[in-house]
Amino acid sequence: QKKMILDLDTGIDDAMAIAYAVADPDVDLIGIIGSYGNVYVEDGVQNSLKILELLGATDVPVYQGLSHSSESDHFDRMPVSAQIHGENGIGDVQLPDPKRQPETGDAIDFFIDAVKKYGKDLILVPTGPLTNLDAAIQKAPEITKEIGNITIMGGAVTVPGNVTNVAEANIQQDATAADHVFRKAPLTQVGLDVTLRTLLTYKETQQWRDLHTKSGEAFADIVDYYIKAYEVTSPDLHGCALHDPFAVGVAINPDFVQTIGLNMYVTTDEKYYGRTTGDPARLDDPNTNVKVAVNADVDAYLKAFMEHLTGLFSKH
Ligand code: BDR
Ligand code: CA
Repeated sequence: QKKMILDLDTGIDDAMAIAYAVADPDVDLIGIIGSYGNVYVEDGVQNSLKILELLGATDVPVYQGLSHSSESDHFDRMPVSAQIHGENGIGDVQLPDPKRQPETGDAIDFFIDAVKKYGKDLILVPTGPLTNLDAAIQKAPEITKEIGNITIMGGAVTVPGNVTNVAEANIQQDATAADHVFRKAPLTQVGLDVTLRTLLTYKETQQWRDLHTKSGEAFADIVDYYIKAYEVTSPDLHGCALHDPFAVGVAINPDFVQTIGLNMYVTTDEKYYGRTTGDPARLDDPNTNVKVAVNADVDAYLKAFMEHLTGLFSKH
């Protein structure tokens, strides 16, 4: 079992990422760090607590991370988020108020301490902006060499962005932090290149609904909201993208994707803000900082995804 920390802005696909990590027998989910993006950080933290409670995973600590990028005074909610994830971030499905509170400790210190404790056995999966990870690296630069694996959901190299013509949402929230992280930490990038090919449909959510359990019905409602949103924004896809749970799957089983090594950086100039690019001047450089996922074994992943989530939902 690998120790895993999720750093997420709990929205709908982030909620599925939590479920995947809770369900996978190869994962020991040791904590969640809250980020901002799909929702404000406080709401994301509440959503994480609610989802964990729904799934019976009440021993997983939740920390509130940073609320905005270092360049903004306050977080401006992405205009598309409420349409895609609902006003409350989880498809406007009302889950009971969580019985637990978030932890009082500092989220960045929690992460740094976990790297010190678990080293190569620890995996970090950020599925929101990279603000928290950048802050941790600034405070303790050595952690990039000590941690076992960082697998992010973010960016794109072979397709345009999803919030602007050049930027994917997580990177666009804090391109400066993303650029720092890309240049300093070896990581695997699970971007739109592969997540837009890993889709879920009403057929799968119906299977959850048919379980007649609290979590099965709640997740069916939550994800149906997301599928409906995709029908409006991306009618050609015929389903919703499993962005964040795919990153969790790849973090544990890298064989779900094929990667190419590139020296990635993020543009912070206004015109191309948030674009992730492989440095063309360093294509001959054998030392690369990022493994970019470019192909996906969609069938194998979807099989694992449904086995894990349906198994978990059948119990709660
Ligand atoms: C990413 O942005 C968020 O809306 C999703 O949760 C995912 O992490 C996709 O671009
Ligand atoms: Ca997310």
